[in-house]
Amino acid sequence: MSDIEQLFNANRNWSERIHGEDPEFFSRLLNQQTPEYLWIGCSDSRVPANQIVGLAPGEVFVHRNIANQVVHTDLNALSVIQYAVDVLRVKHILVVGHYGCGGVKAALNNNRLGLIDNWLRHVQDVRDRFQASLAEVDDPNERVDRMCELNVMQQVVNVSQTSVLREAWQRGQNVTVHGWCYALSDGLIRDLKVSTRCVEEAQEVYRDAVDNLRRR
Ligand code: CO
Repeated sequence: MSDIEQLFNANRNWSERIHGEDPEFFSRLLNQQTPEYLWIGCSDSRVPANQIVGLAPGEVFVHRNIANQVVHTDLNALSVIQYAVDVLRVKHILVVGHYGCGGVKAALNNNRLGLIDNWLRHVQDVRDRFQASLAEVDDPNERVDRMCELNVMQQVVNVSQTSVLREAWQRGQNVTVHGWCYALSDGLIRDLKVSTRCVEEAQEVYRDAVDNLRRR
């Protein structure tokens, strides 16, 4: 059996199993999706959104790109955020980085990989902003991990500063932006404690979190 046939096989098995467990499952999802969460994560194949937090289809709206970035001019990410906030009315936006992220590592170490260097330049901007904090870390792997955390914090601020979130908060909508980092080594998520419910809070928690990193 070819690799691709195997996927169709697995799909048929999955569909049958789900249908057996819950005959209404597919018809229920067909009529509506009402996820409470938007996941913004890395494209890394080892960080599948639904599985890690035990959510079923229909329960999390997902956007992934290399190094889980929210760039202010990225129409793709912005459209996902706008749809999630304005139409789906998600209650939580989860910005989820992961330790040992290849994109972050490449950005940190100036590795040249081609076109993607331009995308990772945004991570390098974060790196340059926190040069001092990063220089304190001697171990190269730990430095990558700190950079992963700093990158998540920056993306939380970026999400919070989008016109979508500003307007949602202004009209009193209940939506919180969180910053998490997932560890490939044990499968656990670490909360970076930068959750924010308004633009001012985003700046504040960001400053505190960066101070904490320095003191660590
Ligand atoms: Co990654």
